[in-house]
Amino acid sequence: MKFFLDSAHIHEIEHALDMWNIDGVTTNPRHVQASGKPFLTVIQEIATLFHGTDKTISVEVNPHHTDYAKMVTEGEKLAALSPNFVIKLPATEAGFKAIRLLKDRGIRSNLTLAFSPSQALQAMRMGAFFVSPFIGWKESNGEEIYTFVQEVVAIRDNYSYSTEIIVAAVRNGRQIVDAAVLGADIVTAGFSVFQDAFDHPYTHLGLAKFQSFWDQTPYE
Ligand code: E4P
Repeated sequence: MKFFLDSAHIHEIEHALDMWNIDGVTTNPRHVQASGKPFLTVIQEIATLFHGTDKTISVEVNPHHTDYAKMVTEGEKLAALSPNFVIKLPATEAGFKAIRLLKDRGIRSNLTLAFSPSQALQAMRMGAFFVSPFIGWKESNGEEIYTFVQEVVAIRDNYSYSTEIIVAAVRNGRQIVDAAVLGADIVTAGFSVFQDAFDHPYTHLGLAKFQSFWDQTPYE
C-alpha cells in the first residue's frame, strides 16, 4: 500500500520522505494557504523535493473554475511545471469532462471531493489516474464510510479500471488499516495522523521496562 502525505509544509514533507519513505504528496487550497507561500511557489518547492523520482504530487486547480475549459487550461499549465504533478479536479460535471480532456493530452488527474461511489465510477470511466473518496468529511456528517470505500474498490476491480484509489481525509490509524484491508491502493493523511498511527503507548511502556531490566543486567 502507498502512503501519501496530505500537506504543503516543506519540513513535514522532508521528514515524511526521509523517515517514512512516503510515496507521494497531496495538497489542497487549505494546505497551500497554511504554508504561508504563494501557490506556484510552494508547489514548485515540493516538486524540487521529488525531482528525479516517479512519486506523485497532487495539485489542485483553482476551485472557482466551473468551466471545464478553464480547468484544462490550468491543468496543462501546472502539468508543464513538473512531471510529478497530478491535477486535482472536483467531482463535478465539468471536472469529469476535464479529466477526459487532460487524459487525451497525456496529463494525469486526481478526482477530489468525491463523496459517492457513483462519482468515483464516473471519474474512472473518464480516465482518472486517481480517485479520492473523502472519508473523514462523510464520517463527520454521520455517514457510513466502510461500505463507501468497499464499493469504490469493488467497482474499480469489477471493470479492471487502471485508476488508483486514494482514501482521503483519513483521521486515524484504524482508518488506514480499514483502507488497506478493503484493498485501497493509497491513503493520504496529515502529518500527525501518520505520526500517531506509527506509535503506540505500550511500545514506550515496554521500552521503559526493558531499559530497566537491561540496566540491571551485566552485558558480558
Ligand atoms: C486529499 O487529497 C485532501 O487534500 C484531504 O484529504 C482533504 O481532507 P482534510 O483536509 O479534511 O483532511
